[in-house]
Amino acid sequence: MKTLETIRAQLNDCDSLLLDALTKRMACVDELIAYKKAHGMPILQPKQEALELSRLHEKLSENPYLDEIEEIYRSVIDSSKRVQARRLFPRSIFLIGFMGCGKSSVAAYLSQMLAMETVEMDAVLVERAGMPIADIFSRYGEEYFRNLESNLIVELGEQKGLIVSCGGGVPMRAENVKNMKQTGRVVLLTASPKTIYERVKDDTSRPILNGNMNIPYIADLQAKRRPHYEAAADVTVETDRKSVLEICEELIEKICALEAAQT
Ligand code: S3P
Repeated sequence: MKTLETIRAQLNDCDSLLLDALTKRMACVDELIAYKKAHGMPILQPKQEALELSRLHEKLSENPYLDEIEEIYRSVIDSSKRVQARRLFPRSIFLIGFMGCGKSSVAAYLSQMLAMETVEMDAVLVERAGMPIADIFSRYGEEYFRNLESNLIVELGEQKGLIVSCGGGVPMRAENVKNMKQTGRVVLLTASPKTIYERVKDDTSRPILNGNMNIPYIADLQAKRRPHYEAAADVTVETDRKSVLEICEELIEKICALEAAQT
């Protein structure tokens, strides 16, 4: 049997190799970012990530440590995504738009693509209040809820690198828009009244639509809100008939183009 000192020395050698390899890998990531920027290529490519993982499975199919190594590998990929995302887009992303336009799904998908933290405003407010939104409205009134939203936007506006899925009413207050733009870009997601209706019709969690769940009401409220949404938006992405991946790729392309135009 080897001595304890020998085993420890071997572990040290392995750690040195790992540290060197990780440093080399980060330098490659830097080169990759520079190349993609110079060639106007999409920054984060989910297909490429899937390919890398399948290569890992092929290479390690007989390896007894497959699960542990995969876990570490995923965190290496995540950190490289985070570095790429930060270099390309150092701000927060505020997703705005009418109820049911896809803010939550897009936020969740973007957070995977960019390895950025997601904040679901409605969920935070529900958790803090200890009751559903419909109860906040009925007990304290809409104005109270809107104030909670505005306070949360102030908090979030002070941070960077977040993906925020905003409540549909957030852009209706000019102060909210100003605070979002402090550290972030505002992305408007749009969808037709019919698409919205199909997505929200069975959900009773939105007090604004309870008792008004029909296409004409949705179309009317959307028309009233549209000028505020459009005035707040730095970029707009239509969501009808697009997959969530297509929406996210278009969104990233548009905010990176905006960033490049302003630097
Ligand atoms: C509202 C939208 C909801 C929620 C609340 C009010 C609105 O959020 O904040 O029910 O006035 O548009 P979602 O847009 O996430 O559904």
